[in-house]
Amino acid sequence: MRILGIETSCDETAAAVVENGTKVLTNVVASSVSLHQKTGGIIPEVAAREQLKYILPVIEKSLEKQKIDALAVTVGPGLIGSLLVGVETVKTLAYLWQKPLIPVNHLQAHLYANWLEGKKPQFPALGLVISGGHTDLVLLKDHGKIKWLGGTRDDAAGECFDKTARVLDLPYPGGPAIAKLASKGNPQSYDLPRPMMNQENFDFSFSGLKTAVINLKMKKKRIKKADMAASIQLAIATVVTEKTLRAAEKYRVKSVLLAGGVAANQVLRQQMEIKINKNFHLFVPSPQLCTDNAAYVASGAYFNYQPVSWQKIAADPGLSIETDVDYS
Ligand code: KG4
Ligand code: ZN
Repeated sequence: MRILGIETSCDETAAAVVENGTKVLTNVVASSVSLHQKTGGIIPEVAAREQLKYILPVIEKSLEKQKIDALAVTVGPGLIGSLLVGVETVKTLAYLWQKPLIPVNHLQAHLYANWLEGKKPQFPALGLVISGGHTDLVLLKDHGKIKWLGGTRDDAAGECFDKTARVLDLPYPGGPAIAKLASKGNPQSYDLPRPMMNQENFDFSFSGLKTAVINLKMKKKRIKKADMAASIQLAIATVVTEKTLRAAEKYRVKSVLLAGGVAANQVLRQQMEIKINKNFHLFVPSPQLCTDNAAYVASGAYFNYQPVSWQKIAADPGLSIETDVDYS
């Protein structure tokens, strides 16, 4: 079965065709990051307007005259204007082409990047979705059986990278900028907090880490930016790896799946390799599959297939398509 996936939840406009949830036939991503660099972050209205320009060319390019059996689209969570661009386009195409449409939850979909490179994670699996908007630990008992274990109580890990990067006058997105500068710095230089690391839950908190960086910058006349970048990166990677390990031990999982833009971070990946891969089978997607793309949307749709028929869309064009991820 070939599914055309569409992803427009944040600032990327992406389309991909994936066969049977595992074989990526095409994967096209258009990014408006250069625009957001000028403003130091995403202005939702600007992102959505750019997506309006890109959506049809990106879909056309991803199709390459291939036949598809169904369409899939991210319906949330995300920026509402951005989501609407994808959802309304795909509803129209489903109706026009008379194909079923599968609504997809963005967080659940991120984890399916782990099925796209010839590997087959075993259940039960622990999933860590670590991105600009989320830091969540979930237990996957099977496809479609997902339990939320914990998440950030304030900023997401990616948001912490992005905001502390701003404090250091680094460009958006902050994660890759901090990682690049950190390679020249000493991660032991600044003693930054490891928020909630020793608490007996699977929650995270990163706003205090951000405040600590701001306070240090205000207190000291000169901070060494590379050292600070390396210290921030190490603090985030250490907390996240520690809590992931504890969750994997508690739930005795067979696999640990990383996903989301921050999972592209090399130091985080190294820490996970050292700590997790000893006792659990660790799955880490290639960096380009960690950040937002539509291939994992198509894969998530295949493995959690719950389509809305085109007839239903035709009968009720105002239909709002929502995913019901049961995080019970
Ligand atoms: O998954 P994603 O592309 O979009 C969301 O769903 O949020 O994640 C974007 C986030 C941004 O906060 C960005 O700074 C972070 O991922 N990121 C990284 C790296 N590459 C992207 N953070 C740390 N190290 C990286 N190499
Ligand atoms: Zn994402």
